[in-house]
Amino acid sequence: MYVGVDYYPEHWERKRWDIDAALMKKAGFNVVRLAEFAWINMEPREQQFEFGWLDEALEILGKNGISAILGTPTAVMPAWVAKKYPETLLLQKDGTRIAWGVRKNNCFSSETYRLLSKKITRAMAEHFSGNPNVIGWQTDNEFGSPSCLCDSCRLEFHAWLEKRYGDIGSLNKAWGNHFWGHLFSDWSEIPIPVDQGVHNPGACLDWKRFNSWLNVRFQKEQLDILRVLCPDHFVTHNFMGLFKDLDYYDLAEDLDFVSWDNYPCWGKPEVRFDASFAADVMRGLKKKNFWIMEQTAGPGGWGAFGRNPHPGEIRNISYQQLAHGADGQIWFRWRTCTAGREQYWHGLLGHDGRPLRRYDEAALTAREYHRLEKEIKDTTVVADVAVIYDYESIWALDIQAGYGGNTFQNAVKRYYNALFRSGTNVDMIRPSDDFSRYKIVIAADLNILEDDVADRLNEFVRKGGILLADCRTGVKDISGLCHARTLPGKLSESLGIEIEEYESIPDDMHFDISGTGGISGSFTSVSYADWVKPLGAKPLAGYRQWHMEKFSAVTRNRYGKGSGWYVGTVVKEEGFYDQLIKNLLDEAGLKQSIIPPAGVEVSIRRGKKKIAFIINHTEEVKTVAVPSGKLELLSGKKTRKKLELGRYGVAVLKL
Ligand code: GLA
Ligand code: ZN
Repeated sequence: MYVGVDYYPEHWERKRWDIDAALMKKAGFNVVRLAEFAWINMEPREQQFEFGWLDEALEILGKNGISAILGTPTAVMPAWVAKKYPETLLLQKDGTRIAWGVRKNNCFSSETYRLLSKKITRAMAEHFSGNPNVIGWQTDNEFGSPSCLCDSCRLEFHAWLEKRYGDIGSLNKAWGNHFWGHLFSDWSEIPIPVDQGVHNPGACLDWKRFNSWLNVRFQKEQLDILRVLCPDHFVTHNFMGLFKDLDYYDLAEDLDFVSWDNYPCWGKPEVRFDASFAADVMRGLKKKNFWIMEQTAGPGGWGAFGRNPHPGEIRNISYQQLAHGADGQIWFRWRTCTAGREQYWHGLLGHDGRPLRRYDEAALTAREYHRLEKEIKDTTVVADVAVIYDYESIWALDIQAGYGGNTFQNAVKRYYNALFRSGTNVDMIRPSDDFSRYKIVIAADLNILEDDVADRLNEFVRKGGILLADCRTGVKDISGLCHARTLPGKLSESLGIEIEEYESIPDDMHFDISGTGGISGSFTSVSYADWVKPLGAKPLAGYRQWHMEKFSAVTRNRYGKGSGWYVGTVVKEEGFYDQLIKNLLDEAGLKQSIIPPAGVEVSIRRGKKKIAFIINHTEEVKTVAVPSGKLELLSGKKTRKKLELGRYGVAVLKL
């Protein structure tokens, strides 16, 4: 198993490199990521390549048993690029080029920049392909810059649209350009929809798709070179978890595996629902295990820095990712830099370079990982519950939320967090995926719903599946036009309901809802309410407000061999979602072998063996009921009926 750090030898004197490598080795580290911002060090002048320094660093690391992942360095263009080729700099909304001097400053459609990117990638690939200490590559760094508004990007947008729609009439139809007299007669008339809040939603959606495609193409150009010249190396990219601007499924497609950058330690210590959610999204991109390419090693910040991970937290953060399928883990960064914008982004070592508490904790974790390696080999998370995670709907809702505060991720989190609390693993899947291998599929806020997906969801229920949908699902088609149907459109079939009207609930108002069977207790409906009319469905919760009395808040419909559940509002209390999820899990016959108390997470990796990770996300001691007589792999002891976990404690049970 690869465990290590992000390392910047170019930031330190040569004489320190041996000390660093020896300290890494001592910690049990066997991998580093290198050079992703070192373009200037490798190509100080155009077409003059200097790799000697990196060869030397690789050799020192290699002697200490440390392999390397090299970054293609295109996230920071050298100053000479900006000076010589100003058209490679991103054009901003105000019509000026971005000031060089940060990073991610480039235009992705610039022919020049693409050529320079291919040249440095090729030079690196040629030079390092035979180096025994190099095992793989990271493309660029955290794709997802703001979009560039230059003429080259606009022309490429036109070409992209022409390819997608064929003729201008089809584009007019897809975007609904009869509205406000926006019909085009020629591609060249089409502007960049600069303001996503007021431009035509269809145009905005395609602009997002186009920008995503530009990044994917840029990466593909590097990949094509690496595949030919370095066939023995893997290629990955460091994704940003819940980042929304790119279609991560597309970006992941040509990579060997996904990696991601996990910085969950910001505010007060709390249960890391989002880091778990992001991990599942990352595993879902290629339906396989992933790596962590950067992980919190200390307080971080570009101006003011945040909280120091409390004792045990560095290890806790790492185990959560291992539990969700991280097969390689790298801390960002090795030593805190004394210069530049990230002087306060702390690494395992401080500015002084001494191996202290954070180093010790990472070393402990690394050593434990090496001991666990053979037990977790060939295991991954296998889930019976899937949540549809769809970038088209993410974008459609960012362009038009429907009701205030509505985002796709917020909607998914309502259900995801309840599943987390119940100790249930979840897969994130695409709308085009096969639903039949799951017992429960959740389509929360799936704003863009194509007919064939709706048909397949209906079929999934007919054949015995449990579908849970909620508000604003199925509103739009793939172009971002509202379906000309009564909601929930085609899903009426499996959900057994009809929604003729709906409304936002202003922040200073709420509705009261209470269970009418199936759901018990009273809850608060906020933000939004569908006026749900059950057709064949059974109401499980209803409203108390006079104008809502005849409508349902929650329904369940028997359809074929399965059932379709619908939640037509946002509920303030978490307890509501816990109850709802419990109902679904009971109906699906899904029983968890370990039920976590509040603040504790359970995630299971399966292969030939079943390995349960039990993680305490709190600073209190927690007692967890577990099956007795099981081997706890970290202590080597057999379990009794109860297991005690200290602050941020972790247990790994072989079930
Ligand atoms: C990102 C980048 C790193 C570093 C960290 C901390 O994850 O990939 O280069 O900048 O953030 O800011
Ligand atoms: Zn551009």
